[in-house]
Amino acid sequence: MLTELTQQPPDKILELMQMFRDDPRERKIDLGVGVYKNAEGVTPVMRAVKTAEAQLVRDQGTKAYTSLIGDPAFSTAMRRLVLGDSVDAGRVAAAATPGGTGAIRQGLELIQYADRDASVWVSSPTWPNHLTIIKYLGVPMREYRYFDATTRGVDFAGMMEDLKDVKKGDVVLLHGCCHNPTGANLTGDQWTEVADHLEATGAVPFVDIAYQGFGDGLEEDASGVRHLASRMPEMIIAASCSKNFGVYRERTGLLMAIAPDAKFKGEAQATLAFLNRQNFSFPPDHGARVVQMILDDSALRADWQAELEDVRKGMLGLREQLANELRQRSNSDRFDFIARHRGMFSRIGATPEQVLELREKHGVYMVGDSRMNIAGLNAATVPILAQAIVDVGV
Ligand code: LMR
Repeated sequence: MLTELTQQPPDKILELMQMFRDDPRERKIDLGVGVYKNAEGVTPVMRAVKTAEAQLVRDQGTKAYTSLIGDPAFSTAMRRLVLGDSVDAGRVAAAATPGGTGAIRQGLELIQYADRDASVWVSSPTWPNHLTIIKYLGVPMREYRYFDATTRGVDFAGMMEDLKDVKKGDVVLLHGCCHNPTGANLTGDQWTEVADHLEATGAVPFVDIAYQGFGDGLEEDASGVRHLASRMPEMIIAASCSKNFGVYRERTGLLMAIAPDAKFKGEAQATLAFLNRQNFSFPPDHGARVVQMILDDSALRADWQAELEDVRKGMLGLREQLANELRQRSNSDRFDFIARHRGMFSRIGATPEQVLELREKHGVYMVGDSRMNIAGLNAATVPILAQAIVDVGV
C-alpha cells in the first residue's frame, strides 16, 4: 500500500526556510517564512507570554481534557479581541483549533459539511496553503482579482467585477488585514462596498485574520472584519494567535461561525465540536490558555499590547527606511508602495529570475512570487537589500 505513494510537491515557503538554513554564507538575509524577527534576528518569546507561562506552570493542577471546543474562556477573550462588540455574542459559535491553519481547515470542513456545492472564492494571489487545503478537500474554488501588478496596490475594480459572479451561498475568503502575500489592503470604504455586495448576493464571508496588530493597530486591523460581522447574517472567521502573540509552535487559533440567530448558533456550535472530534479530538490547550490569561489580566494585556506595538512600529520603520533607500538608489518613487503596504509582507514585483538572482548572488531569500518578510530585515540589512534589488533590475 505505501508503495503506491508518490512524492508530494514541497511547500514553497517551508522549502525556502530549509534552503536558508543550509546556506553557509554569513551575509545571507532571510525574508522568507512569515515569522517575526527582532533586529538581532531572533523570534523572541513575548514578555507577557513568559510571565503567563510561569504562572501557568506554577498554578496548573491538572492536564485532564478540556472540552472539544477548548476552554470557553479562550473563545470569549478572542471573540472580544477580534470582533469587539460588533455582533451579539449569542450568535457566535466558536472552537479552538490547532493554529490559524487549523481554523482554516475546520472552517472549510464546516462549509463542506453544510453545503458540498458551495464555491469558495479566493483572492489572486492568496496564501498558498489556502489553495492546497481547498484542493485537498475537493472544495469547488473560484478566484477573484486582487493585486494590481503595476501599482502594487489592490485592483479593487477587478475584484468587484469578478465578485459579480458570486452566487447565494458561495463563500468569499478575505484576509482581515495585512494581506498575505501582497501587503496591499482594502480601505474602510472598500470593506463597506464588499459588505454591500455580499449582503445583496447572499454570499458568506470567510475572513482569515492572522496578523491583527501588525498593520495599523489592534483595533484598526479588525475594522473590516467587524464591519462585516455587524451586517452579515452569516460569517466565518479564522483567527490565528501565532504571530501577534508569537506562539507559533504552540498552535493556537480560533474558528468562529456567526449564525443568523441563537438557535442556529447552537447547531453551528455542536458541528464545530463534532468536526474537532473527527479530526483531532481536543485542540491544544497550552497556547490558548496563555493567550486567555494575557487578554483577561489588565497588566499582562497592557504589557503584551506595548510589545506588539513596538513590533508593529519597528516594521513600519523598516518599510519607510527601505522605501527611502530604494528611492535614492533607483532615482524614482516606484518602490514607495513598500511604505504604503501593511503587515509582515510586501510583494515587490520581481520576476522569478530576479528572485533567483537575489538568492544566488546576494544571499537574499524571498518567496518565488517576490513576497518578502519585512520583519526579516534590520537597519543594517535594509541598504544591502535595497542595493541588491536595484542590482538585479527590479
Ligand atoms: C507564511 O505565510 O509564511 C506563514 O503564514 C507561515 C506558513 O505557515 O506558511
